Formats: sequence, C-alpha cells, structure tokens
Amino acid sequence: MCGIVGYIGTKQAAPIILEGLAKLEYRGYDSAGMAVYDGQKIRIKKSVGRLKVLEELTHGGDLLPGYLGVGHTRWATHGAPTDANSHPHYNEKETIAVVHNGIIENYISLRTKLEGKGYTFVSATDTEVLAHLLDYYYKGNPLEAITKVMHRVEGSYALGVIFAEYPDRIYAVRKASPLIVGQSPEGCFIASDVPAILKYTRTVYFMENLEVACLKDDSLTFYSADEEEIKKESITVDWDAEAAEKGGYEHFMLKEMYEQPKVLEDTLKKCIRNRDICIEELAMTEEDFASIKKIHIVACGSSYHAGVTGKYVIENLARVPVEVDLASEFRYRNPILEEGALVIVISQSGETADSLAAMADMRDKNVKVLALVNVAGSGIARGADYVIYTWAGPEIAVATTKAYSTQLMALYLFAMKLGKIKGALKQQEFEEMLQDLLRLPGQVERLLANTGRIQRFANRYVAARSIFFIGRGIDYAISLEGSLKLKEISYIHSEAYAAGELKHGTISLIEEGTLVVCVCTQPALYQKTISNMVEVKARGAIVLAVTNEENREMEKEADYVIYIPKNNPNFANSLAIIPLQLFGYYVAVEKGCDVDKPRNLAKSVTVE
Ligand code: M6R
Repeated sequence: MCGIVGYIGTKQAAPIILEGLAKLEYRGYDSAGMAVYDGQKIRIKKSVGRLKVLEELTHGGDLLPGYLGVGHTRWATHGAPTDANSHPHYNEKETIAVVHNGIIENYISLRTKLEGKGYTFVSATDTEVLAHLLDYYYKGNPLEAITKVMHRVEGSYALGVIFAEYPDRIYAVRKASPLIVGQSPEGCFIASDVPAILKYTRTVYFMENLEVACLKDDSLTFYSADEEEIKKESITVDWDAEAAEKGGYEHFMLKEMYEQPKVLEDTLKKCIRNRDICIEELAMTEEDFASIKKIHIVACGSSYHAGVTGKYVIENLARVPVEVDLASEFRYRNPILEEGALVIVISQSGETADSLAAMADMRDKNVKVLALVNVAGSGIARGADYVIYTWAGPEIAVATTKAYSTQLMALYLFAMKLGKIKGALKQQEFEEMLQDLLRLPGQVERLLANTGRIQRFANRYVAARSIFFIGRGIDYAISLEGSLKLKEISYIHSEAYAAGELKHGTISLIEEGTLVVCVCTQPALYQKTISNMVEVKARGAIVLAVTNEENREMEKEADYVIYIPKNNPNFANSLAIIPLQLFGYYVAVEKGCDVDKPRNLAKSVTVE
C-alpha cells in the first residue's frame, strides 16, 4: 500500500522524508517521489522502482533543498507503475503538490468534468484529479479549497498537500485511509504509520475520518470538514524504535518468528491475574458476555485463518455458535444478524479496507463489534465497540507470524472467558487450561530452538511445483495458514484442503512425488486423518506429517514427521504453525525470494 511522509520544520525536509519512507517500505510499493518547496517553487522528483532510485536521483535529498515537503511510496492501483503515475502530482501551474493513499472512486467523472474545463492530465492516476480539483477550487484559501474537494470526492484518501503560496504549512486530510500527525520541537510530521517518524517524535495524533490538519513548523491545528477548528488529544507512542529493526536476523520474518515466545508471554501476562482472565482494555461486562448468542468472525488473509481456528475453539469451549467470513465477502452478503450477535473483526494492521468496511457496516446496523487488533489507535481499534489488543509489537515482514500467533492467543483467552461466564467451562477445567496456555510460550521456544530438520527438509522441496496441506478441524485451520505462508513468500503453488474433502476432486492432482503436508494434532480425528494420508500415499505422494510427540507410530505412515509438544488440542495451532512458518521461510530463502517483501503484496491492504 502507498506510504506518505511529510515534514515542515527547522531541518532539511528531503532527508527526513527519505528516511521516513524507508520505514514504510514494509507496506509494499513500486515507485517513490518527493515534493519540496525550495523558497521559490515546489520541486518534484519521482521515479519508478525502489527508494534507492529516488535517493540517487536526489543525491540523498540534497538536490531538493527546503524545509517543507511531502513524500510518497506508491503501490499502483490506477495506472501502471511509471514515473508519470508516481506521486506527488502537481496542478498545471505547479503551485500545488499532492500525495495520496487510497482510491478516488468517482475520479472518472471528475476527470471528465475537469478536462471539459480545460485541465490537461499527464498521468493515469486518480490522484491527479485531486491536484486539479484543488486548483479549481483554490481562490487564495487552502483550507476552503481542501474542504470543497472533500465534499466532491468519493472513496478513500489520506492526503499530504502543499501550496506554493503558503510555504509555511502542510495540509493533511484523511478519510478511510490511515494518516497520523506528529509534533516535535524541530517541526511537525505526517505519516501513514508510526515507525516513519519514531526517530523524531513519540507525540502522535491519529487523524479521524474527514479531519484536516494544518502543520506549521511550530504549531498544529485541526479542522472538521466544515472548516471548524477542533481539539485533538495526542498519544505518546511507547514503541521501541529498535523493535522496528532487524536486530541481527537475516530477515524481519525470521526475527518476528523468534519473537513469538516473548509476545505470547506478554499477551498472557497482561491478561491473566489471580487465576482468571482480565483483559484490561476490554470494556465488556459479564452481562455483555452472557448476552452473546452468536458470533460472526470477520477478517482477511491470515487474520481470517486465525478466525477459522477461533470458530473451533469458541464452539468447543463456550458452546456459542460461530460463523467465520472473509471480510470482502461478508460486507456484501447481507448476513442475518439477530439479537445477541457479536461481530469479531480480526486485523493485525487495523487498517485493512475490507475489514474496516465490514465493521462500519455493522456499526451502522447497531451490531456490537469487538476488534482484535495489533495496532493501537488504528481505524479498526478506534471504530469498534470493544477492543482486545494483540501485543505483538510492530510487525514489518509482509508475511505475518507473530501477530497471527497473538491473534490465536487472544481468541483462546476470549473463548475461555466466554466459556466460563456461560457455564460451559467449569472452574477446574478453566484453571487447567490457564496452565496449558502458560506452557505455550516455552513450547514455542523449544520448537524454534530446533529448526535443523525442517530446514533440511525445506531445502529438498525448493523445486516443488505444487504442495498440498491437509488436516481436519483445527488441523484444517492450521493447514490454511501453513499453505498461505508457503505460497506468499516462496511463490510455490499450494492449497489447503479439509482432509476428508480431498477425495471429492483435488486428489486427482496428486501424482508421484507430490508433497502433502498432513497436520494431525487432534486426537479425536487422528485415525480419520491417517486414512486420508494413506489415500494420498497410495497415489504416490510424499507425506510430511506434523503431529503430537506421543504419536510415534506416525513414522510408519508418513515419510517425514515433525513433532510438537503435548498441550490441550484446542491450542495445537499455536505449536503446529511454527514448523509450517519455518518451512515456508526456508523454502523461500533457498529459492532466493524477497522474503520480507514478496512480489505483488503489501503489508497493509488499505484499498478494496
Ligand atoms: O492487517 P490484517 O491482519 O487485517 O491483514 C490481513 C491480511 O492482509 C494479512 O493477514 C495477509 O494475508 C498477510 N500477508 C498474511 O501473511
């Protein structure tokens, strides 16, 4: 997704912007650019390619001197990744420059109207419409022009705008795309995400929908879309800047996998007190829990996969029915939501467009929404009725690992709390499960300490064309995530199947030498899954089994076996996912793939 950084203050803007954009690289991008006011006019440099190209083009920012500027990394939506389509975009007189994250949905009709009024477009982007529209409405008052544009455009936008006639300020605007504002003694900043400005300030304002900020070097003013001044509270961000660096690991993904024991422990420590679950930030009363009759889990990608596990665990432990939907489907499927329904939106970033939209729709329908999010202050965290934070810290690698693991933990805690309040879990059972949870971080650590076998195995399958993951129940949910981890970073085609469903079609793809990863951690389904394993083996598959350490007889059936430590079967996902994350990672490294920034992917999918 696109990244925005802007600065106005007492220092040279361009190097600060370049530095900030580098911290947003995790979002994925295909081109980059900057606009800096040099004392006389706004100068723009932009180029397709990595940030390095922009750094070279501007000699590390030296060729764009000035104390006021905005920068952008673009992830192409409208128009191919080209220099012309890169941001910033100018009006024709080059007196206004705009950077934009989001999508202007009515850009075609606006473009036609502007062309009718004589405006000439030089790019295929929706963003250029904004530059010309600002020009059209600008009669000497930038705030007035901006709010007029806000009333005309439909869609989502986070904007950084500078006007040559007002070289003492940057305007920031937001609707349904993330944007923060930071303040320090050396100036003010805008950014799509906190790490971009963490080096300079920890005093941050999270912009709400349809707010405008006017940044000067020594002051900040916020306005509504009606140009009325509004007061906002700042938040002090306590993230460790170091936490956003690789810390000696070859890739962020590897580092983040190894952080899993710690973040799981952090999440547990925050939530377990006096043999009970007390989720501090969760403003749900016992009555609120007791009134839940049905749960709808809504999410995308890995967060959806965590949700699939959540369905099994909540139904097992709390005996409350759960439906799980992909947010992109849920928002358009007209779901039946009766009295007592709770929607749980799961998201690492808290800014995923489909999840945000699904949540907004639920709020409009007066359905209570609980958000499970990693980023405090994100759109989903702010928009939900209730929040449970997953304490994974900043996750940089596009492929999620530690955030997914903390999502699982948050779901277990929620399921247990609900089960206890609903009377489905007796106190003794509840307390035993708390002990099981407390053993998980150490068990994950043991799995991560012993990676040689999975690495050797991964090296053997680097040339595989297609790999299948199968399992039943919670093992199916684990398979979904194992398969996604592999395919998104190694580019090997992979599919996850409910093991019992294989024979209804997909088994025709199994041939001599096809690798099938068989997840088999659920005691009640063990024999059933073994039967499916035997079926694929009979058709020539090579089977890697992931199973519990007591299942030694698995070695008779599978070609390779990875064991996970003994724990409650409801929590097996937290253990079985570790070798699968490692498998995907080692295959991708051996293939020479860009592990942290896989092609075509973005960390935070803020457009539909
Ligand atoms: O930030 P979110 O959890 O809402 O993101 C959802 C998906 O985009 C994300 O999980 C994606 O599937 C990751 N690439 C998975 O590793």
